[in-house]
Parts: sequence; structure tokens; C-alpha cells
Amino acid sequence: MAGKIVILGVFVADTAYRAERQPRMGETILGKSFVLGPGGKGSNQSVAAAMAGGDVHFISRLGADPFADMARDTWARAGVTPEITTDGESYTGAAYIFIEDATGNNAIIISPGAAGRISVDDVEARADLIAGASVFVTQLEQPMAAAHCALQIARAGGARTILNPAPAAEIPDEMLALCDIVTPNESEAEGITGIAVTGIETAHQAAEALLARGVGAAIITLGENGALYHDATRTVHVPVFDAGPVVETTGAGDAFNGGLATALAEGMDAIDAVRFGCATASISVTRPGTAPSMPARAEIDALLARG
Ligand code: RIB
Repeated sequence: MAGKIVILGVFVADTAYRAERQPRMGETILGKSFVLGPGGKGSNQSVAAAMAGGDVHFISRLGADPFADMARDTWARAGVTPEITTDGESYTGAAYIFIEDATGNNAIIISPGAAGRISVDDVEARADLIAGASVFVTQLEQPMAAAHCALQIARAGGARTILNPAPAAEIPDEMLALCDIVTPNESEAEGITGIAVTGIETAHQAAEALLARGVGAAIITLGENGALYHDATRTVHVPVFDAGPVVETTGAGDAFNGGLATALAEGMDAIDAVRFGCATASISVTRPGTAPSMPARAEIDALLARG
């Protein structure tokens, strides 16, 4: 039987603007479309993991407002169990997402609001849940102290610990040493290691630098080039799957992390779990939005079977 997945992170409402380009300072331009929907890396990863079949518990903070209602609806539909502190002194946050019309690529500003006030106390109040996890996942949109504390509890409890170091930040070695797996994308890997990741060879160098700082394994996600897995004994490049034309890449990393977590909680080997994460992400980029783009388990299995 698959173990429990516990994810600590942020929910925000994504406000996604599709346009030919971003405006310059002082300029107004016309966009092609606007969509409001559920987002936030931790929440997206929870939705992806639950849609892929995981037993997911999501720890976060919300305000008491309509965006909080959107969060709860999203989790109820995906089958995520919320572990929420309601913060009446703040607001549920939002993200500005620019989507480049020609490529589907994105640039994001996130204001986490209440989730930016997730505290060590919030985490310690869920210590039993975290310690009992099979897989624990967090990112860096909420305060680093909360992530660090949760990683300590998860490690002490014997969970497989995954840090998705997004957005990039300076991470103490002591915290990296608590991570069984880190999953930066190219720019995050460069931000942490100083090595510019431009392909598989440089991804390997960055992964090696992360291992030297104490992580058990590094998975560098490489966009359309898939992902590179590296630990002390193996280095494996896993390509993406062809699931159809790319519509929007926002949330692809979250799809990968959610799929990875579910696969590991089911006991898959790390490389099979990376393939599962790549398949999850390959489907998500064929659809608009972040949380709404996450595929169901049957779709992932069908894509993996097709190869
Ligand atoms: O990874 C994509 C997510 O990053 C978006 O949903 C946005 O909310 C930001 O948190």
C-alpha cells in the first residue's frame, strides 16, 4: 500500500495574462486573454500528486476570503486533505503570471499573503503528521525557517524528503543535508550552485555540486529536455514524453514534483519515479493553467505505456 504524502507550501490565486510580450515600465499593452485560477507551487504539487493517485495532506495558511474558498474547492475536487491555519490578519495571496503567446513560457510575481506567514509553530503543530509521512515535499515560497523545521521533523520520522528549491534562494548546507532529493530547474540549479546549466553536461556538474553540499540525490529539471537524475551511484537522463502540442509551461515543475512524490510513495525505483514525474509534466504542458492542468492517473499510465 502507498504511504502518505505530506506537502508544505503556498496556495495563491493565479492571474494569468497571455500577451505577445511584457509591457515596459510606464507602458500599457493589450493582452490576448486573462484567466483566474488556483496556483501556488505547494498547492499545485499537492493537486498533481493527488490526481496521480497519492494520499496527500497539504499544510499551509490562508486568509478568510474568496481566494481561500477557491483553494478549498480545488483541494476537495482533487482529493487533497487540507491542514490549514486560517489567518484573519492577512489575505490569501495571488500571482501575476505573464504567458508569452508564441511559446507558452512564463514569468511570475507571487505575493503569498497569509502563506508568507507560515511559521515554525504551524509546522510543529503538525509534527505527528509530518513524521508519519512516507514522502515529504516542500518548496521555498513560504518562509525558509518553516521549510527547514519541517524537513528536520520529516527526516527524524524517516520520510523520504524532497525539496523543490523554487524560487531560488540561498540555502544553508545544514538544510540541504536534510534532503534526500532536491529538484531545481536550470535557473534554480544555477542560483544555488553558481554553475550555469545549459544542457545535460552542466546539469550533471550542478547536480554533483549539490551532492557535495549534502543532498542525497539531485534531479535537475530541464524543460523540453526532460530531467537529469544524479546520486552517488547513477546518473540518468530521462527525456520528456510527446503528449501533444505545448500550450503553457506554467506549473510543469509542480506537475513533475507531484508525480514524483506519488511514484515514490508507491515504492517505485527513483528512475521510474522520475519517468512518472516527466510523464505527468508532459501532459500538464498541453493544457492551460497550473493546478487545472494536472492529469489523472489513467492519463499518466496511458502515456507511460505508449512510451
Ligand atoms: O510553479 C507555478 C506556480 O508558481 C504558479 O501557480 C504561481 O502561483 C507560482 O507560485
